[in-house]
Parts: sequence; C-alpha cells; structure tokens
Amino acid sequence: MSQFKTLSDYDVAGKRVILRADLNVPMKDGVVTDSSRIDRTLPTITELLEKGARVVLITHWGRPNGERVAEMTLKPVAQALAAQLDKDVKFADDCIGDAAISVVNALADGEICVLENLRYYKEETDNDVEFAKKLALLGDIYVNDAFSCAHRAHASTEGLARLLPAAAGRLMQAELEALSNALEAPKRPLAALIGGAKVSSKLDVLENLSKKVDMLIIGGGMANTFLHAQGINVGKSLCEHDLAETALKILKTAEEAGCKIVLPVDGVVAKEFGANVENRTAAIADIADDEMMLDVGAASVADVKKHLAECKTIVWNGPMGAFEIAPFDAGTNGAAQAAAELTKTGSLVSVAGGGDTVAALDHAGVKEDFTYISTAGGAFLEWLEGKELPGVEVLRAVS
Ligand code: 3PG
Ligand code: MG
Repeated sequence: MSQFKTLSDYDVAGKRVILRADLNVPMKDGVVTDSSRIDRTLPTITELLEKGARVVLITHWGRPNGERVAEMTLKPVAQALAAQLDKDVKFADDCIGDAAISVVNALADGEICVLENLRYYKEETDNDVEFAKKLALLGDIYVNDAFSCAHRAHASTEGLARLLPAAAGRLMQAELEALSNALEAPKRPLAALIGGAKVSSKLDVLENLSKKVDMLIIGGGMANTFLHAQGINVGKSLCEHDLAETALKILKTAEEAGCKIVLPVDGVVAKEFGANVENRTAAIADIADDEMMLDVGAASVADVKKHLAECKTIVWNGPMGAFEIAPFDAGTNGAAQAAAELTKTGSLVSVAGGGDTVAALDHAGVKEDFTYISTAGGAFLEWLEGKELPGVEVLRAVS
C-alpha cells in the first residue's frame, strides 16, 4: 500500500484546515438521532484544535441534488457537534463565497466552524474544478477524514485534494489500516462472511472475495440463490432464480482458488413473514413449497462457529437472516457472538462494515467486541469489491 500524508506531517498551528468529514448522520425532525459518525471524527477535530488550527469543517448531508433544500441544512449537525465537543461551533450558511469567507476569517486559532451542505451545489457531485477552487480559497491545508465518502469522486473528496497540501485524518487513517490488515495483509486463514438479501447487490463483492479469502461464509437471503442453484428446493424463500448460473460460476471460481464455501445446513422457515409468526427449524433439504427461509438455523450457527475457530481474520458484511424481526435474529446474533468471543480471546481479527451490518452487530450486542467496525456503507462495499476508492487514491497520488 503506497503511503499518504497524515496530520503528523503538517504544522497546523495558526493554519486554516479544511476538514472534509462525513457528517451525513441520521436525522429526524431536525435532530441528530445517531451521532456515531460525529464521535468517530472527534479525534481528528480535537487534535487539530489542540494544535491551534482554525478548523473549517465541510460535509454533505443527504442528496439535495444541487438545490438549497431547507430540511437538509447542516445547522442541527453543527449543534450536535458543539454538544459532543462541548465547544462553540460557528456556522456559515453557505459553503463558498462571502458568507463562508467571513465566518472563516473570523476564526481564531483553536476555533471551528461548519459550512453549509456541500450538495446544495451540483458542482460538488460533478467534481467541478472551479467549485473546488472556491472551496480551496477557505483553507491552507486539506484533511480528509471521510472514508465513508471515499467512493465518491466529488469536489470535496477528490478535486480539492489536488489544490491544497493534503492529508488523511485520524479516522481515515484508522479505517485504511484496519481494512489493509483485513484484506491486503491479513493473518490467514481469512474468512469473509457475506449476508444480506440479494446476490445481485453483492455480485462483485462475492466475485472479488472468492479469489482472495480462504473461506466464504454465505448467509441471509442470498444463500437461497446458491442453494437453489445447487438443486435444493427453497420453497417461497427470497431467491433470485435467474442468477443460478452466476451463483454456480462464483462457486466454481471459489473452488479453483481454493476458497471453501460455507452455506447454511438448516434454516428457520415460516409460511409468512412477520414478527413471531409460526415457524420451525428445517434441514436445508426439507423446506416445503409453501415455506420461506427467514434465518439460518442453530446447526448452521454451530457450523459457522466451528469454521471461524479455524480462522485468524474475518471480514463481515450483511446479516445472516431477517434480523430486524424476532425470532429471525437468532442466526445473526449467534454468528456475531461467536466472532466476538474469538476476537476477545485474541484468536480472531474481526472487521465489519456496510449499511445494515453495524445495526445487526449492535443488535447482537457485540459492536464493542469486534476489532474494527467501519463507519462506511457504500465505500466499504466498493472496497470489498476490490475497487479503487477515488478519495483514497488521490491522497496517495498527491503525497
Ligand atoms: C453515506 O452515508 O453512504 C455517505 O455519506 C455517502 O453518501 P451518498 O451515498 O449519498 O453519496
Ligand atoms: Mg451511501
């Protein structure tokens, strides 16, 4: 992995530091409902402020598509940040131009401001150079801490890095280090557990991983497609019948690469989908035409446990079943707890990320027990696909 600069490479005292964070946090009725992404970027902010930088924080929120959508203002985010920092956070109601310039110019050393939503300008998502230049006017140094936006080649994540001395923030650094330890230079055997509803949404992930990992554990709805492809009757289960050929191809690639595939051996099945509906545990070969698999069964969890005990590293993305609805969370909980236990005893490095995954691990009560949990959703998936992330590549290119 070629290197990039970090906060340690610059003297930031008295400098205006443009910090691209990802504060695209869940919000309801103008109130931040989950501050995880704010919390995770605090080490970078605190370090910069303590070193006497003037921090100009930029971020997007939602997808306003270049319109000034009032409900997508970053004011509540600035307030939530102020609460977390226990410090005054100034706010500029534009991210470029006079409104931004006057707020930035009024900052003293060790002070911070948040600029209004970058995506009020479509030039942001277009990675427009002139827009990036207007952002660059607001700072002396650019720091990117937004790993979860690194799959976007936008003005604030890509173009701007080429216009100012650039560095990765501490969160970006931690994410890249954890991910590199998981896939680029992992302790082997290396397992990937991939769950979630559909094969189609994770085709590239499965293809890439089947060539890299020693063991691919497949759960969730997508396991049904693999089982069906192997001639097993999955009844009414969610299943992408048209992807049977593709699933077989993935199995073949894996076999050729020496990657072991672990599929469910039993499932919790029901005739309808709902909380606490009548259900039973069935062997995979014993699913009836009018039943659907909503979770993996206890034998499958035991099997996953046994396999994980043979591994030194696991990358986890996606739930094993319909974990949002009881009792179909048991498979995800059981597998997650097994990974957490092995991590606690020091025999497993566990790295997880992606949309639903963090919620599933949180629900299983193991969020604190994994080695590393990424803040990224889409960027984590693209990394699992083996794609280059423009926001990371540019930091390397300019270093
Ligand atoms: C995210 O939450 O996935 C990131 O903030 C990126 O947002 P986007 O998917 O709207 O580009
Ligand atoms: Mg996204």
